[in-house]
Amino acid sequence: MSGDPRAPTGGPSAPRGPSAEGDLELTWPGKYEADGSRTRPNRGVEPLPVIERFPGPAGAMGNRLVAGDNLRTLPALLAEFAGRVDLVYLDPPFGTGDAFHLQTRRGGTSGAWAGAANRADGPDAGARRGPAAYADRQPGGLGGFIAMLAPRLELIRELLSPTGSFYLHLDARTVHAAKLLCDEIFGAANFRNHLVWVYAGRELARRRYNAKHDDILFYTRGRTWTFHPERILEPLRESSRRALSRHVDEDGRPYVIRYRDGGGFAGRDEPGRTYRQLVPDGTLPRDWFMADFARKSQRTGYPTQKPEALLARLIAASSEPGDLVADLFAGSGTTPVVAAILGRRWLAGDASRAAIAAMRRRLLAMPDGGGGFEVAALADAGPPAATLDLVIRPVPAAEPHDPGRVRITGSADDLQAVVAWAIGTREGEPGGPFVAATTAIRDSWTGELATDLPTNFQAGPAAELPVGGADPVCIGRAWTASGTATDVPIAR
Ligand SMILES: C[S@@+](CC[C@H](N)C(=O)[O-])C[C@H]1O[C@@H](n2cnc3c(N)ncnc32)[C@H](O)[C@@H]1O
Repeated sequence: MSGDPRAPTGGPSAPRGPSAEGDLELTWPGKYEADGSRTRPNRGVEPLPVIERFPGPAGAMGNRLVAGDNLRTLPALLAEFAGRVDLVYLDPPFGTGDAFHLQTRRGGTSGAWAGAANRADGPDAGARRGPAAYADRQPGGLGGFIAMLAPRLELIRELLSPTGSFYLHLDARTVHAAKLLCDEIFGAANFRNHLVWVYAGRELARRRYNAKHDDILFYTRGRTWTFHPERILEPLRESSRRALSRHVDEDGRPYVIRYRDGGGFAGRDEPGRTYRQLVPDGTLPRDWFMADFARKSQRTGYPTQKPEALLARLIAASSEPGDLVADLFAGSGTTPVVAAILGRRWLAGDASRAAIAAMRRRLLAMPDGGGGFEVAALADAGPPAATLDLVIRPVPAAEPHDPGRVRITGSADDLQAVVAWAIGTREGEPGGPFVAATTAIRDSWTGELATDLPTNFQAGPAAELPVGGADPVCIGRAWTASGTATDVPIAR
């Protein structure tokens, strides 16, 4: 066995027993078996086949979107990624008891999700709000919440690389119990910080203090870890900058003079006794910070979406370009989107079909398509087939050498439900993954669906679309906000 002080004693998982140093133990329903042994998560690997591929620049597809309950997807993910993930961020449901729906933009009907809210598509037919996103209804109160989290964290810890970092985003309802749970699973010695994200918003409570912060627990897998405070410096207040900029050196850089013995600031250079300290770009990061809620331009309509600035801070500090970043309660996909922007690889999962649809659309909206990715799904978590009456047709080219284009058409209602569509091929018929050649999305800001797509084939009078008996067969596919998919015929 390795010298890892966290090496398992009762199986290939986290150590058992009390949290911290043995002086305090959190228990929860189902923690122990009837014989007193610690309950362990089910490690049975379920098939998690790739159902869609969206190649990025130069055909890159190194990232993975995973559909299904993470307790069931984790054993398969561990088989592939154990010890290889550099950063895990989790933002699970907080135990609010609420059922969350996709949100339409106030006062308007536009937006990527609006169409689905207005049409008869799935269980929310006719609803004025959008389709269901997810229900935060873990039974059993706080004990039930911890019982839900415990086996997942036990498996997720094993995803982490030896220098990996773990962030758990919660609020005051659950963070205190979750701290003890994490101490037990990650080791109290690996607790690094309790971060506080402070946000603004209307204060309405009059009988208690207004809740204006979330809590993020930060653990590392071991005693060495990646951390770059210089990438997330806090900006200096203008008054501090002015006070610190009393002197300017030969290169025009402001500095202060400090005594070497720690005795504060000196008025002038005294060689041997003093040194010059350049005014830094900012101060080292604190364990609390302010960040606004997701900007309007970032909003996807998915409830409880976190701001990109928050994720950018954690990912920049705790990973290197090229590292693998994972989020298995990924919702609207803030983590994979920011990971892709910062040049990291990503693994993102969610049990909600609406979340997978929101992430697919949001990633495809990125200039590099999220870096290219595959969608894998448990047998019962792939997009259910919908019956939208749509057709894709070649658009006749005005000139013989115009690049080819195809256009998606259908009834206004059916088109309105579409948040993304693509043409591509099917790999290894029958039932093989859909491989997108070109994709189009509904813009989340304007609500406009791009109905034309460039193709690599000519759509003029002499066009030969590789449909029907051709190999590979070209097919179309359209996805809705509630998470359904429709294979769309390509008409000649
Ligand atoms: C608070 S939201 C995450 C929001 C996300 N951070 C964002 O920025 O959009 C929590 C997510 O966890 C998902 N979830 C809940 N239980 C899950 C489970 N057992 N497996 C996978 N995902 C789950 C929900 O569907 C929901 O999308």
